[in-house]
This record gives sequence, C-alpha cells and structure tokens, in this order.
Amino acid sequence: MKKHLPLIWPGAIWLLFLFACQPKETNLTHKQPMLVIDNHTYAQPASAVITHLNWKANVSFETHTLEATAIYTLEQKDDSHKIIFDTNGLNIEQVKDAKGNALSFKLGKEDPFLGRPLTIELSPGTTQVSITYTTSPNAEALQWLTPAQTAGGKQPFLFTQSEAILARSWVPVQDSPGIRFTYEAEVTVPKGMLALMSATNPTEVNPDGVYHFTMDKPIPAYLLALAVGDIAYQQLSNRTGVYAEPSLLQAAAYEFEDMDQMVQAAEHLYGPYQWGVYDVIVLPPSFPFGGMENPKLTFATPTILAGDRSLVSLVAHELAHSWSGNLVTNATWDDFWLNEGFTVYFEQRIMESLYGRDYSEMLALLSLKGLKEEVEAILKGEHPEDTQLKLHLKGRNPDDGMTAIAYDKGYFFLRYLEEKTGRKQFDAFLAEYFSNNAFTSMTTEAFIEQLNKNLFVKNSLPIDTALYNTWIYGNGLPANCPQPVSDKFKKVEEVANQYLAGTPVTQLFTPEDLMSKKWSTHEWLHFLGVLPDSLSYQQMEQLDNMFEFTYSRNSEILTAWMLHAIQSHYTTAYQNLENFLVNTGRRKFLAPLYAEMVKTPEGKTMALNIYQKARPNYHYVATSTIDKMLNYTAN
Ligand code: BES
Ligand code: ZN
Repeated sequence: MKKHLPLIWPGAIWLLFLFACQPKETNLTHKQPMLVIDNHTYAQPASAVITHLNWKANVSFETHTLEATAIYTLEQKDDSHKIIFDTNGLNIEQVKDAKGNALSFKLGKEDPFLGRPLTIELSPGTTQVSITYTTSPNAEALQWLTPAQTAGGKQPFLFTQSEAILARSWVPVQDSPGIRFTYEAEVTVPKGMLALMSATNPTEVNPDGVYHFTMDKPIPAYLLALAVGDIAYQQLSNRTGVYAEPSLLQAAAYEFEDMDQMVQAAEHLYGPYQWGVYDVIVLPPSFPFGGMENPKLTFATPTILAGDRSLVSLVAHELAHSWSGNLVTNATWDDFWLNEGFTVYFEQRIMESLYGRDYSEMLALLSLKGLKEEVEAILKGEHPEDTQLKLHLKGRNPDDGMTAIAYDKGYFFLRYLEEKTGRKQFDAFLAEYFSNNAFTSMTTEAFIEQLNKNLFVKNSLPIDTALYNTWIYGNGLPANCPQPVSDKFKKVEEVANQYLAGTPVTQLFTPEDLMSKKWSTHEWLHFLGVLPDSLSYQQMEQLDNMFEFTYSRNSEILTAWMLHAIQSHYTTAYQNLENFLVNTGRRKFLAPLYAEMVKTPEGKTMALNIYQKARPNYHYVATSTIDKMLNYTAN
C-alpha cells in the first residue's frame, strides 16, 4: 500500500523523505517514501539522499580538530543533479567523485543555528562523493578536555554530542532525523587512547591507535557519536557492558549491574533489541546531558554514579530509545515528543517491571510535579504554544523543544491512552508500532493515523478527536491527566507537614532511620520538593546537621538541596555549591541553579563569579544556555 500525502513544494523549502507503511517484516530496502518538511536541514532529499557513509578521520588533540574524509554513497532522485549537505564551521578542502574527479561545490550563506549548506554538482550517473574537510576547533558538537578535566588526569579526552543538529559541526551530512544511512569508519587517535563510536566497538586499546567501526543498520545523523580517551571496558553480560575511565570502571559496573535485566524487560514489553550489544560509557563530568542514546553505546554523565543504583532509571531511559527514537525516529524536531514522550513511558514500564509499581509511581509523581511547574512557566512566557506536544520550531533552535512537555506531557498522554484502552491492548499496539515502523521516521500526524487504526478501530473503541486537540494540539495540561498514586509519598508529605508545623527533625527521624536508609532517593527528592522554597537559616541548618545534604553524593538530591540553599541564603552550602557547579557540566543541574541565583543582585554576582571559573569546563550545549541566562558575552 502506498500513501500519497499532499505535497507542498514552496521554492526554497527543504523536504525529507519519510518512510511509512512498509510490510511487517523489517525489510530495509523496500520503504515507501512520503514527503515531510524539516525546517532544520538544508538537505533536499527529494533531489538526492545519502545511503552510506565511509568516514576516515584523524583526531588531533594538538589542534583540537578532526581531519577527515567522508565518502558517501548516494541516490539521485530527480534531474537536478546536485546534492545538499549541512555543515557548520567545517573547512571543506576538496570534493571528488568515485573516479577521483573534482566536483564543483559551493558553501551557502551562514545561518546562526543551521550553519551553511554545501551544494555539490553531480553528473547524471554519480553515486558517490568524497568530501575532505577539517573541523573548527570550536565545533559545537565536540568537547576537547584537558587531562585535568578527566578523572585520571593523564590523558586528554574528546566526546561528541550530535543531537539535535550539531552532527553537521563534525561531519558534512544530511542532518535531518528523517534521513537514514549506514556507516563505517576508520579513526586514528594518539597511541594509548581508545576510540568508540555509535557502532561496533573495540574493548581494548590498539597499540597503533587505529580503530575500525561499522554500523550496519541505517541511522539518522544525530546518532553519530565519537568518544576518545583513556577508556577501559568491563563486560556485564553477554550483550551488555560498561566503558569508563579506569578509576571509575568498578563503580560504573556496580551501578549498572541490572542492565541486562533491563534489556530483557524491554524486549519482553516491545520486541527484540535490534542493535546487538548494549553498552554504556560513563563520560567525564562536563558531558552536558544525563544520557544520550547513541546506538549500541549510550553516553552517560558520571553524576548518575550515586553508589546505590538509585539513579539507574536514566539507563532504562536511554535503553528505551533503542526502540523509541533509534528504531522509530521523530521525523522532524517538531515531533520530538515521539522520541522523548514514548521513551519516558517505556522507561517507566522497564522500571516497573524490574522494581515494582511503587517505585515507578514515585518516578511518575516526580515527573508530574516538574511538568506542572514547567507548563506554568512556559504559559507565562513568549511561546505558550510550546506546551503543545506538536511543536513549531521553524526559525528557532530545536533545543528550545527540549522541555518537560515532550518528555512528561508526552508520557502522561501515553499513560492516558493506556488507562483508557487497557494495558494489554495498548502494549500490543506499541509492540506492533515498533515492528511496523522499524528503521523509519514518524510524524505526529502519521502516529495519530496509526493510533486510530491499530488501537481504537482494531479494538472497536470510538475515536476521540478531542483527545488530540487537547493533548497534542492544545496548550497546557489537560484536565484528564492521569494521577499517579504513592503511599510512600503520602507518608513523606505527612512528615514534611509535621516538620513545618514545628516538630524538630530529631523527633521525626531516629538515628536508626538514617542508618537503615528508611527513605529512598525519590522519597528524599519528594521531601525537598514539598518544602516551601525558602526556609529559615535555622531550619536549613537543622536539616543539614541531621542529613548532611550539603555533602550529598547524590547529584539529584544535592541539586534539590542547593536550590533551597540559594533561596534561603544558606551560606554554609555556598562553597560546595560552587564546587558542584565548577565540576559538573550537566545542564539539567546547572540551569535551575544559575536561574535561581540570578533572581537577586547578590545572587547574580555570585553566579557570575562561579561561572568565570566553571565555564571552561562546560560543553557548548551548556554554555549556550547559561550565557543567555547571565547575559554573558564570551570575548
Ligand atoms: N536524547 C536525549 C538528550 C537530548 C535531547 C540531547 C535533545 C539533545 C537534544 C536523552 O535521551 C535524554 O532525554 N536525556 C535526559 C535523561 C532522561 C532520563 C530524561 C537528560 O540528559 O537529562
Ligand atoms: Zn531521551
């Protein structure tokens, strides 16, 4: 069956192929394309698309550059005889065809988010182009760390972060989530270092510093990834393992011990894991995200090494992306909730199956609290329509879509569907959704169509369009949002109320309670979350004496505590707040802390002082956010 969607073709608008309606069997060569507009690429896939990348690169820690040649296999789709790539800050040296003939090319004008289009003239029969180029030392995806910025302190480190549209700063590529290609690579690094990609990976250092990689499943450009450093490997099971700097490897292996069980739980829910092995690399602390779902090899922040496995839902999340995102991919960044909302839903289901409903309900309540706060904040701002699941990011940085809406409103919408139609029916629908659409991209509209057909009609349930108008195309949080329930959290609320009514903490908690870790991380987060923003110095001191929050090893608890410290002017914690901000580059922690500081003049001065010291440790993704918050202009 082939579907023809209305085809809009305004002059300079870029279209991408979206593949839908393929047979049940995953057959990578027989996809039926439909056309969708991606506003964040220069590529014109209706003219020509890449299908395979052969990348050869040399990594120079001296110049902070990659010198590389990207050889693409391509398909010409019309008679324009040209192909357009996305680039950002790349120095293009040479473009050739398979026979080594130089091809003429031109770099277009620069856009602040999108970079520059690279247009290459093709002959009618051209099926291969080779692009020789060098990256800029300031390439946005790349972070080059000095030895001092690593745990080991001896070797430098390099990692990439390509999502959403930063891949183009290290590889000229058709950087649209709807365009997929396979890849192979040969990467040369300084002797003694290990290189890893989102591909088949080595587990040991190769003395000559040359590494080979293959990714034989088609992926979009935002899943291209590279890490280079003093990295060691430990196997956890037949198909799972962990990479980290040697001094962190044991801690990482301990923290992630349940990884194989997570893969099993995920497969049991929604079908086979399609990527072979599943490994996680724990990166240095400047990694700007909690995790990034690079295929076969999740990139993760060391801030999830709490020592007690309490933050491993992040691994469940990145693993879940192996289905939601990496198998079935948001067609454009306006459909980002199809990646993240599905993944939060899937993550919660994995957590429920490993640790029980009580546990996952705590996660769901924390997510709801954050969601309500963010909905309120966005509704007051410049873009209230950003509270809709379907976004309108044309002309904006796709990073603007990375809010609790995609994640948590997306999650609650899917949970609503589950509760409305029954878990059994909903799970069957999702399993079928992943297998039917594997290795293709999905628009919100195509998803709605499949939902109507394969969930509602199939189960003889009425289609309720109001559902889409509120959840997907409407502002705010719908009134029918599911309400998670947790007895544990109710008890936490009782204790918090008693505390606020004047009962001293020493009466609320016995030393045994503390020793026996009566409360989990999530209960503590809830406790800190229900306390009023600002407490008295005495209250803060009392809590700190009892629970030592200022020195918490748990990055989530520490951040929640430090927000209170700033709001309450609890100066005792300030030195440790500074240490945390200087040593951690995870934006999810930095952004709320700096945002809280800039609310007062003294706080703003403190923020600027800390930022002076901390900024060199942050990735572009983090500095671009915090610079704006502090009106900071780099010199
Ligand atoms: N894919 C995202 C990270 C991302 C999104 C990077 C958009 C760039 C643009 C990743 O899966 C993610 O969601 N990470 C979260 C962790 C998660 C448990 C919510 C993070 O980094 O905090
Ligand atoms: Zn995610």
